[in-house]
Order: sequence, then C-alpha cells, then structure tokens
Amino acid sequence: MAYYQQPHHVTGLPAWQALREHRQQMAGFSMRDAFANNAQRFEQFSLNQCGLLLDYSKNLISEQTLQLLIDLAEQSQLPASIQSLFKGEQVNASEGRAALHTALRSPIGRTLKLDGVDLIPQVHRVLNQMTELVGRIHSGLWRGYTDKPITDVVNIGIGGSFLGPELVSEALRPFTQRGVWCHYLANIDGSEFRELTARLNPQTTLFIVSSKSFGTLETLKNALAARDWYLALGGPRDELHKHFIAVTSNAPAAIEFGIKAENIFPMWDWVGGRYSLWSAIGLPIALAIGITNFKELLAGAYAMDQHFTQAPLGQNMPVILALLGIWYGNFWGAKSQAILPYDHYLRNFTKHLQQLDMESNGKSVRQDGSSVDFSTGPVIWGGVGCNGQHAYHQLLHQGTELIPADFIVPANSFSPLADHHQWLFANCLSQSQALMHGKNRAEAEDELRQQGLSEADVQRLAPHKVIPGNRPSNMLVLNRVDPLTLGALIALYEHKVFVQSAIWGTNAFDQWGVELGKELGKGVYQRLTGELKEPASDASTQGLIDHFRDRHRG
Ligand code: F6P
Repeated sequence: MAYYQQPHHVTGLPAWQALREHRQQMAGFSMRDAFANNAQRFEQFSLNQCGLLLDYSKNLISEQTLQLLIDLAEQSQLPASIQSLFKGEQVNASEGRAALHTALRSPIGRTLKLDGVDLIPQVHRVLNQMTELVGRIHSGLWRGYTDKPITDVVNIGIGGSFLGPELVSEALRPFTQRGVWCHYLANIDGSEFRELTARLNPQTTLFIVSSKSFGTLETLKNALAARDWYLALGGPRDELHKHFIAVTSNAPAAIEFGIKAENIFPMWDWVGGRYSLWSAIGLPIALAIGITNFKELLAGAYAMDQHFTQAPLGQNMPVILALLGIWYGNFWGAKSQAILPYDHYLRNFTKHLQQLDMESNGKSVRQDGSSVDFSTGPVIWGGVGCNGQHAYHQLLHQGTELIPADFIVPANSFSPLADHHQWLFANCLSQSQALMHGKNRAEAEDELRQQGLSEADVQRLAPHKVIPGNRPSNMLVLNRVDPLTLGALIALYEHKVFVQSAIWGTNAFDQWGVELGKELGKGVYQRLTGELKEPASDASTQGLIDHFRDRHRG
C-alpha cells in the first residue's frame, strides 16, 4: 500500500523513539564546542547542488542526529513516497488527485502517463501557447482596441494565482524584457484597485484573470471591476477579448465571463494552486522576463527534481531541510521558522513560502483521517535582511523561543554599489554566527569592564548583554538570483514541504481549512447589506455587524 493509503503513525516508528531518547542526550549540546572540536564541521554539513550551497553546520545536530533522522525518513518509506509523487499517484488522497507540478517542468520527450494519457505533450502545448502569446505581446503584434500595443499586464488572482508569479517576476526584475510592465491585483479592496488603475491606460492594458477554479470571490470581483473600468473608460464591449485573457481549469466559467476560448490557458486539477507558477499561471512571469528565461526557470526546478529523486537521503538537499524542520518542530518544541532572504529581489520569497508551507502542512489530520498526536507545519515568517535586524532579530537572539532560521543570500548582486553587497553579505553571515555563538556572562562582563564601567554597573548590565546563542540556522548561498537558480530554490522548498508531509502522513495538497471562512462570509455579507434580517449566530459577529451598519458610509 502507498504511504497515502496506509495507517501511518510516525510516532510508532523505532527511529521516532530513538530520536526522543537522543533529544535528551543532546540537551547539553553546544554548537560552539562542536565547531571547536571538529575543524571539518562546515564541509561535513554542507551540500552544493543546482547552484545552491546549503550550509547546515550551524544546527543542533551531531552525526548521530543526522543518522537517526535519516533512519526516520527510511522507516517512513520516504523513497517510495517520492516515487509516488513523481509517478502521479493520488498523493492528494482527500481529493483523489495526483500532484504533478513536477510534470510542468519536465523536458519534452519524457513520458508521464496519468489515467493512460501522456501529460507531457499537453504541458508543452500550453507552453507553446504561452510562447505564442508572449511573442505577440513583446513584438507589438497584439493590439488593443485603439490599435496600440500592450504596455501593461495586470494579473488578477490571489493565493497561488498571485504569490508565486509575483515572487518570480519581482525577483527576476534584472531580466525584465523592455516594454511590458507586470502588475498584480489580488485583494478585494477598492484602494488596491484604484491605486493600480490610476496609472493604467485601458487602451494598452491586458488583464489576465488567473484562477484555477474561476470561482474565487476576490478574483471574480476584481475581474468584474476591471471589466467595468475598461467599459467606463470607453473600451468597446465587442473588443473586450483584446484586453482580457484567462488561466483556469474552468473554461466554461471564463467563456461566460466574456473571454474568448482561444484566449483561455488551461490548468489541470493535478496542479495545486501554491505549486502552479510553473504552469500558465506563470504567464505574467513569462511576459515580464520573456519565454526563454521562463524556460530557464523551469530548467532550474527540473534540476532540483532530478537531485531530489536521485540523491541518497543523506546527500539530499530537500530531505535535509525537511528533517531539520522535523527535528526542531517535533523534538525541540519549535513552533515557527524564520525565512530571511538577504536580497532586495527576494523580498517576496517569505510571502510565497507562507502559502507553500502553511497551506500544505497546516494540517492536524493524516491522509487516513486519523488525528495527529504531534506538531505539524510551523508558522512561517520573516522578511528581507538587513531590515529584519532592526525589527525582529532581537527576539531571535534574546527571546524565549527556539526559532530556526533559514538565511538566503546571493554571492553576487546585480547592482554593485560601492561595498554595499559586501556589507549585506557580512551582515547575513554575522547574524547566523551570532545566533550560534552568542555571548556568555563572562564575555559580557569583560566587555563592560573594557568599556571602563564600574563593577556595580558591570553587574547591573551584564545580564542584559548576555546572548544565549546555540540557536540554529541554515545558510543558503546562491551564485546569483537568476532564473535557473531561482527555479531550483523554489523547487527545493516545494520538496522540503512534501517530505515533511510524507513523514507525518498528512496531505500537503488539499486545503479544506479555508472553506468554512468563505461559507460564513456569505451570511455576514448579507447581514452587512441588510439583505438578511436573521441575526448572526453569535453576539460578537452580530455586534460588529451592527457597528459597521451604524458607521459605514458609501
Ligand atoms: O486559499 C485557497 C485557494 O484555493 C488557494 O489554494 C489558491 O491558490 C487560491 O485559493 C486561489 O484559488 P484559484 O486559483 O482557484 O482562484
């Protein structure tokens, strides 16, 4: 039976018990001492793959720890689970679906059959459809209703139909093709809509309605508002098709909206939203950076796929990252993980990872429907460095929580400016070093004495200056933020998330938890507008509705 079918109780595995005992033995583990006693620790706990250097030596691990974690992966039948994922088995058991985002980056010529149908030709048919559109837009062949070329593309979408494309098109800004600017409209918020459309000309704007379901409230409301905006500013209804296209698996709904069938880019139900930037959902990326660079992005992800499916578990970058997360989450009580990109172009990476990780692993029920009895997905947070050093790094260094951090930094900047990049890189490394090394009481006192303070002040201040240290972090160094490396980096985290779910026995590819809020929202809306007189089922919601109705104007 495949992993997603069998009663899967990871806490009953021998390796889990061994890790619980090992955790006790590691109570006094000191990273400082580990480095002092082993000059090869960096080499021993580093991996170089797909243009990425992963230094995981600043972790609370010994060789024995790593071996026990790998034993856990093996006893969880991880290799078989990875095969199930890539072969298109129904790893999304609750929806009876495969999760084949990896097929989207498979080179032409490979075969991958799902229900007897080879998927690769249809993947490449859509890639060709994207290539043709990008070519027509970039060459100016695609004209608006006043016969002007398109200068601005607005992606209307939310969640996976927004965060991945935004991350990549912003991260690869240095690769932007002249003449086409990409914008993102996601929230159901008139201010966001107004701020964006105020700087657009309907004659030269193309809207991409990106929605796998073509049923997401925010996206549909924004698409209707965009259509009204276009019409109100003089756009002819019978030329709407020159300014609206769609990416969806629900073509009938798109056609009903008024989009021509030939301007619909298909999606498949075996691609989850948060894993979909490699599909036609990535159209804004391709329009921003060109189809050649988009294919480089796919190639980078494919290289990581090859590494993930072929490398032994102990040399496998996604597996190592996943196992470290399990070590801290399930054996050290860590409840969150910080993602700290030290690069302006990667500033949206954490936002994308929040959906990728938290919507995939924010689960408390296994694939077989049984409740878990251990922690699963962590809270993912963070942001660009050095900014975070002046915002939340205090908590990382002297707070009461163990918060593992992933630092992500390029060795090369696209914008050399004096010694800025050297200082950025130095700060990234020194933050990781400070988390590991800390400053003990004796060092704090010495420092204060050397500053000439009285002994009374030394004793008064020293407790505040102590930095506990021994706090874990990973360092991911990219050669530079380019399509190939970025594709590998994103795929790395996709596979890390999957490995954790496979070991926990949970489903990384459904998201039933978001349904209730959507359903309740309809009743609240009807009460806000007075359409529904029956009071809400609780006094808080009703009190807030009353407050809104008293104060809302417009
Ligand atoms: O948040 C729920 C969700 O379904 C996400 O998984 C998805 O990325 C987003 O909403 C948008 O869905 P769609 O692409 O169907 O509009």
